[in-house]
Amino acid sequence: MEKPLICGLRFHDGSRRDFDPLTTISLKTAFVLQLVMSSIFKPITLGSMEIKNRVMRSATTSYWSDDRGILRPEILQLYRRLAAGGPGLIVKGHLYVQDSGKAHPGMAGISHDFHIPQLRKLTDEVHKYGVKIVAQINHSGIQSIIDRAGPSPYAGTGWEARGLTSDEIDGIIEAFGDAAERAVAAGFDGVQIHGAHGYLISQFLSRQVNQRTDEWGGSLDKRMRLLFEVYDSIREKIVERVPVLMKINCDDFSPRGFTIKDSVKVAEAISTKGLNMLEVSGGGVSRQSKLSDRAQSLDPELKEASFAEYARQIRDATRPMPVALVNGIRTRRCMNAILEKGVADLISMSRPFIREPDLVQRLKAGQATATCTSCGACSSREVFGKMMLRCHLDEGREARSETNDESR
Ligand SMILES: Cc1cc2nc3c(=O)[nH]c(=O)nc-3n(C[C@H](O)[C@H](O)[C@H](O)COP(=O)(O)O)c2cc1C
Ligand code: SF4
Repeated sequence: MEKPLICGLRFHDGSRRDFDPLTTISLKTAFVLQLVMSSIFKPITLGSMEIKNRVMRSATTSYWSDDRGILRPEILQLYRRLAAGGPGLIVKGHLYVQDSGKAHPGMAGISHDFHIPQLRKLTDEVHKYGVKIVAQINHSGIQSIIDRAGPSPYAGTGWEARGLTSDEIDGIIEAFGDAAERAVAAGFDGVQIHGAHGYLISQFLSRQVNQRTDEWGGSLDKRMRLLFEVYDSIREKIVERVPVLMKINCDDFSPRGFTIKDSVKVAEAISTKGLNMLEVSGGGVSRQSKLSDRAQSLDPELKEASFAEYARQIRDATRPMPVALVNGIRTRRCMNAILEKGVADLISMSRPFIREPDLVQRLKAGQATATCTSCGACSSREVFGKMMLRCHLDEGREARSETNDESR
């Protein structure tokens, strides 16, 4: 009897399937099968939340809410398109927990019950597509446009911030808990504490910004106290019902700022408290983007992921808590490498979804790379509150110099 021609198909999880291409499967089908079996399309569970694949849309402000912080209706359409595009998880752009914590014009709020109905419409839209959505809750501290106040007095270029009183800190902690409760009432599947990018929690973690000498500043234990009190306040309000996630800097990349050593310690400590997922980002107050090179991998498959090497260290210290990695990831090759080489458990992206909301479907169909060039035109402060978030690349606008280090 004539022997069948046997071909082997190697899957990203290391397994191999043999088949006779002439009788069982065409090469085209095999290619499609290989894509579908790719690690990025495998589900994952974060606490009680099941996510259909490993691709998440990192928090991205649409900078298009009204003066009271209520989402404008066009934002619902933007999220409908995003959800239809099939990511496993969407993190809603940051929401201020107190009016004084508003970071920029057009930022949406979750500081009052009147914010809930419009947020509910948003979560309902996203859920129609089987996609999970969490609320990123934030206070901008010294970056506020209402009342610049942070851990201690701070002078920026052309501006000054005052230090918060202990009573004000207590009020902010309570506001995070109340915001989480509203997020659940608005139908979010979880909350993400914004602990990165030089906002209030990240300011307290930073030695450079936090000069307090009381129980909120000094040693790392004292600098991380605000984060822990915020975490407890959230858990007290929503108990174990929904997952709590956090976005953290692997490093501020600022002189005397929060470092990878600090980040590993904070990540370890918060993981033992039951955090359900940590998203690793980078860049604090007065960050210097060239410093972020030290977090990059020399592995050619991982190089585009700006913080790959630091994310690996954080994941190693916090297993089995799932870790997501954000910043610079653009190719399917890199996404698979991140998962298969144990750098992170989820792939998080922001700008690629602005340009291609249906990116996950495109990747499934065989597209190898996102077409976002990281030009940064969509995150220029000039457009905040003046127009809704969109990709400007095809509009002939002069793009800002190329950067791979976009943080809000
Ligand atoms: C327009 C815009 C808005 C953003 N808004 C937020 C935000 O609300 N919260 C946040 O944590 N990060 C925000 N970011 C940062 C992204 O979540 C992400 O960390 C950064 O863009 C790097 O990822 P990327 O290379 O995939 O874009 C924003 C970025 C952009 C471009
Ligand atoms: S404007 Fe630039 S950075 Fe923003 S989505 Fe378009 S290509 Fe990407």
